[in-house]
Amino acid sequence: MSRLVVVSNRVADPRKTAAGGLAVALAEVLNNTGGLWFGWSGRIVEDGGQPSLHTQHAGPVTLVTADLGQSDHAAYYVGYSNGVLWPVFHYRLDLADFDDGYIAGYRRVNQQFARQLAPLLREDDIIWVHDYHLIPLAAELRALGCTQRIGFFLHIPLPPPLILAAIPGHDWLIRALFAYDVVGFQAEADLLHFDNYVAAEAHAQPVGEHRWRAFNRTVQAGAYPIGIDVDEFQGLAQAHEGREMFERMRREYSRRKLLVGVDRLDYSKGLPQRLKAFRALLTRYPETHRSATLIQIASPSREDVSAYTDILHELESLCGSINGNFGELDWMPVRYMHRTVARPRLPGLYRASRVALVTPLRDGMNLVAKEFIAAQDPADPGVLVLSRFAGAAEQLKEALMVNPYDVEGTANAIHLALQMPVEERRVRHESLMATIRQYDVHWWCNAFLDTLAQAESAESGTP
Ligand code: G6P
Repeated sequence: MSRLVVVSNRVADPRKTAAGGLAVALAEVLNNTGGLWFGWSGRIVEDGGQPSLHTQHAGPVTLVTADLGQSDHAAYYVGYSNGVLWPVFHYRLDLADFDDGYIAGYRRVNQQFARQLAPLLREDDIIWVHDYHLIPLAAELRALGCTQRIGFFLHIPLPPPLILAAIPGHDWLIRALFAYDVVGFQAEADLLHFDNYVAAEAHAQPVGEHRWRAFNRTVQAGAYPIGIDVDEFQGLAQAHEGREMFERMRREYSRRKLLVGVDRLDYSKGLPQRLKAFRALLTRYPETHRSATLIQIASPSREDVSAYTDILHELESLCGSINGNFGELDWMPVRYMHRTVARPRLPGLYRASRVALVTPLRDGMNLVAKEFIAAQDPADPGVLVLSRFAGAAEQLKEALMVNPYDVEGTANAIHLALQMPVEERRVRHESLMATIRQYDVHWWCNAFLDTLAQAESAESGTP
């Protein structure tokens, strides 16, 4: 069995599943293959210093992380990754900051990572690169002579060609994807955008289903919707912290129905629209006064990018005005927290909630939607209100689907969710559970890695 080498901007100890995300997703396969995980150390060092590498052992897994110089970090992470790629890939050209210097820094860091990683690679390794920070990594590895199979998975959406084409340097970026053997997306919609882009803009030739030839290389594209480890999350729900949280919430809100939202504080999550929908619910349906409470957790994120501070102020003002206008001495409609809640407590919070609001304007997948489903009591489950613009909407058909831009429509769907009889909640939940079990994180990992393993041994040369 080939060793798996994972590369991602953030690296976490796969033994600490409380970290969630990729760590949980990849723990099993990294452990089984005695894998290597490479990425940024999270440390920023002064410019001009020699960036050091740190090696740690986590059971059979080796974690190797690299420091970044101050201006490299500013251009690669804050600038190009989160100031250009993140907004444009989430359809927000208006928020992109196309500063000339960013792309050079992005390329420099990808080159640095390639130079540091290449000497650690073995001939039959399988390399799996994750997310938008590292699109050119395979091209840089190929330039150093690496011929291993390399796959890429994009965790965020891929927009339609004409949005993508607004990025100065988009042709370079997509050309770099041809250095991979397999390129994976979250949703069928993203895959379609890739197919359309490479056909129209890169004049690629189709050589099979979602298989394209251009720049003297062949790439296999596919949709691999990421899932969760259902048993792991249900285990957390039954563990001490999960149960304690559940009981505390049930006690505290025994006379009210709880609505919950858990997001990174990001403009893609549609948080102002969600609060406006909640305000519309309170305005239109007075019977919800005193009976419904929204707990909104918005964990701090990317505070060095200006678009994130703007959204923070908007949200604080909306919460303040809703509570000011509708609150009573014994009832606050919104409990807003700009804080991270420890992962082991989340399943308890989800299980105690009647409704989850997962209403992003655009999202690659959204795993909160899947975790909410996993945490429910099947006999008395809560209702998922889901944006049609989350990748998860392609799979979670039995959720109450909303257009988050339509504030009144979302308010009506929330009202429906609060009223939904237990029989209907059970039927919907049962189908949703079957889907998240079938397409869980193990399915995702195996489906992608099987395709990569079957890819013809990599062609050499850069695209
Ligand atoms: C999204 C991205 C990840 C990223 C995470 C947290 O889920 O797809 O690649 O790690 O957000 O963002 P941060 O900038 O803190 O790494």
